[in-house]
Amino acid sequence: MSDNTITPEAFRRASGLWATGVSIVTTIDSAGKPYGLTMNAVTSLSLNPPMFIVCVDNNSDTLAPMRESKVFCINVLASTQQDLSNRFAKKGEEKFTGVAHAPGASGAPLLDGALLSIECTVRDIVAGGDHQIMLGEVQRIVSNDGAGIEPLLYFGGRYAALTKAG
Ligand SMILES: Cc1cc2nc3c(=O)[nH]c(=O)nc-3n(C[C@H](O)[C@H](O)[C@H](O)COP(=O)(O)O)c2cc1C
Repeated sequence: MSDNTITPEAFRRASGLWATGVSIVTTIDSAGKPYGLTMNAVTSLSLNPPMFIVCVDNNSDTLAPMRESKVFCINVLASTQQDLSNRFAKKGEEKFTGVAHAPGASGAPLLDGALLSIECTVRDIVAGGDHQIMLGEVQRIVSNDGAGIEPLLYFGGRYAALTKAG
């Protein structure tokens, strides 16, 4: 079936068929207050220098602190962290209350139990439609790979579990 009318619904449906992992991207403001949001517009960019990009909505409350401190941390979620994903996908002042976390080297929070935490320094910001593309140089990687942790996946507007091929 082809559909040449790009309605918001058609765009959302198509984007939803791009299977991804789920991350909570965190930062701090100049006073050290933590912020974060659930994201799947996250990808590796460059090996030399090592870089990741994250695409943040212009309406996100996390964007201004990220611009200010120029640091962010990509916390790649484990399959057991669906509730955390839902919590950080809503707006709110108290997102970190009761959530086990610790400041990384940059100050941006590392979330306990994540599969992976990637600490970045913002090197550039590029406007992309209604989002800002934050280009981050990787400063530190904390990996729990090897601890048997499965990733949280997202497909078709729902969470999904990993089925290993082969
Ligand atoms: C699975 C999933 C993926 C999301 N990916 C993004 C994303 O890549 N970029 C973005 O700006 N918002 C994304 N969101 C929406 C934000 O998490 C949501 O708008 C959140 O309320 C923003 O919080 P903030 O305003 O406190 O930063 C996603 C939500 C879900 C559930």
